[in-house]
Amino acid sequence: MTPRKIIIDTDPGQDDAVAILLALASPDEIEVLGITCVAGNVPLDLTTRNARIVCELAGHRDMRIFAGCDRPLGRKLVTAEHVHGKTGLDGPDLPDPTMALQDGHAVDFIIDQLRDHAPGTITLCPLGPLTNIATALQKAPDIAKRIAKIVLMGGGCFEGGNITPAAEFNIYVDPQAADIVFKCGAPIVVMPLDVTHKALVTRARNDAFRALGTAAGVAVAEMTDFFERFDKEKYGSAGAPLHDPCVTAYLVDPDLFNGRHINVEIETQSELTMGMTVADWWRVTDRPPNATFMGDLDADGFFALLTDRIGRL
Ligand code: RIB
Ligand code: CA
Repeated sequence: MTPRKIIIDTDPGQDDAVAILLALASPDEIEVLGITCVAGNVPLDLTTRNARIVCELAGHRDMRIFAGCDRPLGRKLVTAEHVHGKTGLDGPDLPDPTMALQDGHAVDFIIDQLRDHAPGTITLCPLGPLTNIATALQKAPDIAKRIAKIVLMGGGCFEGGNITPAAEFNIYVDPQAADIVFKCGAPIVVMPLDVTHKALVTRARNDAFRALGTAAGVAVAEMTDFFERFDKEKYGSAGAPLHDPCVTAYLVDPDLFNGRHINVEIETQSELTMGMTVADWWRVTDRPPNATFMGDLDADGFFALLTDRIGRL
């Protein structure tokens, strides 16, 4: 099987880091063409720093990493140091990066890669606010029909929001960008909080990462030890929710997930519900389906896959 060519768009973030590690540990299924960074969990200078730290941890100093948009399309940047710590990658004590960022802007890399490869070749994997993806679509509308699939972490339905009562963080930070992406016509798979809040790093699962005894395994244990605090306090969760690794796990084993092809639209007007993903799960409208919205996952299967793959780094 030919590995799927992907671009990871990310705002690391401990869970982004685990998603990137999973992708890099799965070369038979995934070829990462490059990593594009966006402001989100922490400002852009830190997300680009953290992406390089993670790639060096995985032994991929050759990975092409680009800086992208440093603020949302039309709103003030909201960050999440309260969840991820002031560096965005609090937990493990990892060395400062030595690999360089690529020259050029992330948006141009996304456009160029989509134009240079045959239509339907590249899957975009946004793990943060959708600012880079939307900016690329605005700058080069022709790329929309060249995208094989967009597999993103964002939104929520029955689970509500995690940054406001109605909105999940990635969508809330840049709702205008999300609206552009969800209307672009490319096939979209959504990993919302309804799924990612079932991917919890329980103590046993954390112990399994640590028991790998590798630099990557121990770092994943330390990252999730750190960022579980927010969800434990807020939701009484049994551990850190691995939001973004649901995206790369889907690329390796889609059968771990199930959902529905439904209409999903983004609230961009009301401040009360700004950034809400209005998911027509029960198909009560005649709005055309535009996304496969996941509702459940095989959590034990997910962690078995993740632990095995992290152990290969
Ligand atoms: O709401 C969770 C999402 O917001 C995750 O992608 C996390 O990394 C943050 O970006
Ligand atoms: Ca993220």
